[in-house]
Amino acid sequence: MKLLALTLTLAALPAQARTFEEIKASGTMVVASEGAFPPFNFFRGPTLTGFEIDVAEALAKKLGVAIEWRALSFDALLAGLRQDRWDMVIASFGVSEERAKAVTFTDPHYCSGGVIVAKDPAIRTVKDLAGKVVAVQTGTTYLAHVQKIPGLKEVKNFPKDTDARSALAAGRVDAWVTDRFVAKAAVESAGGAGLKIGDFVFVERIAMAVKKGNGSLQAALNKALADIMANGTYEKISRKYLNEDVRCR
Ligand code: ARG
Repeated sequence: MKLLALTLTLAALPAQARTFEEIKASGTMVVASEGAFPPFNFFRGPTLTGFEIDVAEALAKKLGVAIEWRALSFDALLAGLRQDRWDMVIASFGVSEERAKAVTFTDPHYCSGGVIVAKDPAIRTVKDLAGKVVAVQTGTTYLAHVQKIPGLKEVKNFPKDTDARSALAAGRVDAWVTDRFVAKAAVESAGGAGLKIGDFVFVERIAMAVKKGNGSLQAALNKALADIMANGTYEKISRKYLNEDVRCR
């Protein structure tokens, strides 16, 4: 009985984060993303695709490993690193002090920022949001920044950014704050006519995350990222999905 209890305890103990050497030896890196943030990570039919999916695949190729993809809701992604459910997360996470307490970030794989999207052309600037209802995705830097704007009527949270977008399209909110490239893609997409992109609310650096303290994987990813940024691979992927090179400058 005692032995059984001990065995169960050991089985329940969290495994250590895998070092890059261990990942390399296994041949497979487990990477988690969301799949609902086009053009960065999204599903085309059953296939997970997008700028970040191709960037991660290019990094894996450099590192000599295959990727086993996991797609989960946005709010589950960083928590899963702590539980060693996957090795790395790539899902447009902005580097923030708050998040850096919980995970270790790589160098940024792109630079962007949150912009205001509205149907009413009079809603363009942060000031114009006074008295308005604004939609944002739960758990994002957009929510954190929008909450600091004084005088808003209401901030509406949606588990998925695409639902925040739908709320705007349906006229249930006055504005949507999202990534500038997500906004661009939305405006250019079917059903995006009538949406107008306004000012930036803030800018941010977007990076991959590994388990807090996993310096070996962080260093391997940084090296591979620098390599694909130097050899043209990154630029090609960036132009394919975003029509420009979105690296931080
Ligand atoms: N850049 C924002 C943040 O850091 C939004 C990220 C949303 N990502 C996603 N896959 N829905 O919070």
